[in-house]
Amino acid sequence: MGKIIVVHSFRGGTGKTNLVGNTAACMAKKGKKVGIVDTDIQSPGIHVLFGFEPESIKHSLNDYLWGKCDINDAAYDVTKGLQGVEEAGGKVYLIPSSMNLGEITKILKEGYEVSLLNEGLTNLINKLDLDYLFIDTHPGIGEETLLSLAISDATIVILRPDEQDFQGTRVTLEVCKRLGVSNLLLVVNKVLQTYDFVRLRADMERVYGCTVAGVLLQSDDLTENGSKEIFYLKHLDHQFSRGIEEIASKLAAT
Ligand SMILES: Nc1ncnc2c1ncn2[C@@H]1O[C@H](COP(=O)(O)OP(=O)(O)OP(=O)(O)O)[C@@H](O)[C@H]1O
Ligand SMILES: [Mg+2]
Repeated sequence: MGKIIVVHSFRGGTGKTNLVGNTAACMAKKGKKVGIVDTDIQSPGIHVLFGFEPESIKHSLNDYLWGKCDINDAAYDVTKGLQGVEEAGGKVYLIPSSMNLGEITKILKEGYEVSLLNEGLTNLINKLDLDYLFIDTHPGIGEETLLSLAISDATIVILRPDEQDFQGTRVTLEVCKRLGVSNLLLVVNKVLQTYDFVRLRADMERVYGCTVAGVLLQSDDLTENGSKEIFYLKHLDHQFSRGIEEIASKLAAT
């Protein structure tokens, strides 16, 4: 049975979406079958990294949650656009959230049958024979997040070296503990080159009592990339990409 990996942060803009896209691509480049679900219903975005246009979304996660389609009708094979993935025998499927304004407001206002989300994720793993299913989340403590945390096989909490993130991460880890989340990992992102990476990692592990899966560089190259594509696949030797490799292997080992 494939593993569900949830990537979450208390605050926004920590790099969840880029982490999910790059780590999923890294695993697929090693021949794995990977799915990505955008549960950030309020502000979806991971489709952008895969060059997947909103007009191409025929069925979205929203349609599935409204009972309008099967979960695999909302799964799009985006492998072709990913350099070196097909050759490696890997696959990436994307389950986007709707970018239609009316559909976003409707689901926020009316909600949905929450148990359907978890049922859908399990069905997706089985139907697509996935090795890993990544969940990109909305920041903070929302209902979908609590739900996905509760069924995750591994959870990454991502933070920046920032006091607000430090406090928020405490709250997130408390929630994870209460939900009995297993295989909890931290990722520190947007770390300036001038920082002592080894010391930062040791400090975070001591303060939070949790393994740090990787420390990722704040990189102008990534800023320039601006979520246009999967950075890792184009810059395999970059320090950021080596961080992604480390995170992927830690996940594979859980
Ligand atoms: N290591 C990094 N170096 C430089 N820029 C980065 C890095 N990681 C992410 N970014 C940039 O930070 C911005 C936010 O990243 P991303 O969208 O992945 O965060 P997020 O946590 O998913 O945000 P949200 O909470 O809004 O969903 C993007 O412009 C992205 O390119
Ligand atoms: Mg995001």
